[in-house]
Amino acid sequence: MKKVLFFFLAAGLIIACGQTETTSNTGSTIAKAKKTASKTPPKIDGKKIYKQYCITCHGLYGDMGASGAANLTESKLSLDERIQVITNGRNTMAAFKSLLNEDKIKAVAKYTQELKKD
Ligand code: HEC
Repeated sequence: MKKVLFFFLAAGLIIACGQTETTSNTGSTIAKAKKTASKTPPKIDGKKIYKQYCITCHGLYGDMGASGAANLTESKLSLDERIQVITNGRNTMAAFKSLLNEDKIKAVAKYTQELKKD
């Protein structure tokens, strides 16, 4: 008789433990939200600078060619050469060294490389 009683007790304990399991599923959604929030944008946004200063001649996609502007989607210049042209200007292209600092010029030069069609 004692053995049977112990069995019921043990079975009751197992059932009680099983019921607590359902509440532990909210943690993963919080972890997911944190992961996307930590993806911070780069400090200097070359695209923003481009839209502000360059689209009047080069156009949003780099191929507008206003005022004889070079087609940036077909430019074969290296990053350093682009930085040179943007900093000091070339023919009708204005110099930007008085408007933009070195880091900004570098950022926008990098962005012009992204305009390239592939
Ligand atoms: C006033 C119009 C004008 C504006 C504004 C302008 N550009 Fe230009 N850009 C030109 C012209 C014109 C050329 C071609 C220069 C030449 O013929 O030597 C050129 C050439 C270039 C080149 C060289 C491309 C090559 O393959 O030779 C780069 C890079 C460039 N521009 C980037 C920029 C960036 C970045 C900005 C904004 C910060 C900008 N430009 C703003 C007119 C402009």
